[in-house]
Amino acid sequence: METIAIINLKGGVGKTTTAINMATLLALKHKKRVLLIDNDPQGNASQFFNCYDGEADTCGAAKILQREKPEIISKKGIDVISANISLLKADNTLRTSTERQDDRMKNYLASILGEYDYCIIDNPPALLMCTINALCAANEVIVPITLDNWALDGIEMLATQIEELQALNNRLKIAGVLLTNYRKTPENEVAEKWLRAHCRYRVFETQIRRSDKAIAATYYKQPLEEYSPRSAAAVTYRKFVKEYMES
Ligand SMILES: Nc1ncnc2c1ncn2[C@@H]1O[C@H](COP(=O)(O)OP(=O)(O)O)[C@@H](O)[C@H]1O
Ligand SMILES: [Mg+2]
Repeated sequence: METIAIINLKGGVGKTTTAINMATLLALKHKKRVLLIDNDPQGNASQFFNCYDGEADTCGAAKILQREKPEIISKKGIDVISANISLLKADNTLRTSTERQDDRMKNYLASILGEYDYCIIDNPPALLMCTINALCAANEVIVPITLDNWALDGIEMLATQIEELQALNNRLKIAGVLLTNYRKTPENEVAEKWLRAHCRYRVFETQIRRSDKAIAATYYKQPLEEYSPRSAAAVTYRKFVKEYMES
């Protein structure tokens, strides 16, 4: 099982959009068995898959941190483990635990190893205990970024954290940086060129194009492949997943 953490310490860079569309493309187009873990207390991916319960005092992702068996919900050809704000409470409790804190997700995934080809983990824009658990369970990290003045600061900070975590998880590697919400402007082309020349990690060839359909698709709760397969965002997500799988 390939376990991929989608992460950036910045919010609004397309982590959830990437997790949702990558997971559904791997399942529907590439016929892979996919588990998506919503590991963000905001529960955006859970909302998308209609398995968000804002009132519930626990959630699948919280149960993983508590060494309990999470519910698995089947949606749109993939299995989903949901999150809500209770994940934050479980996270705080774990943080003050005297027991080992970083191996909960890793142990859970080890127990279901043969059941999936891919596990995609959508993360919050912060290094919570749940994020550290994801990085200790994952073997690959994909870092979505948008091109703005501060995009690169985020990567450096994250890279430092990941390098520290490699002491706990030596399988962990950064698969690559993914340009999301991309618009071809002269400024962006310069920024992209600079990034490709200076980033010490692989930058995927494919840029995920900005498209209004990507925003609309979230209202209809449909993956882009279903909502608007010919939109620039859908086309580039297909291309990206192919590029990822071929590497
Ligand atoms: N390719 C895209 N084109 C247009 N809007 C996008 C695209 N990707 C993401 N968005 C929008 O940007 C916002 C942030 O994306 P999201 O995936 O929620 O980021 P994150 O999970 O990193 O906070 C959302 O409103 C989302 O619909
Ligand atoms: Mg998100």
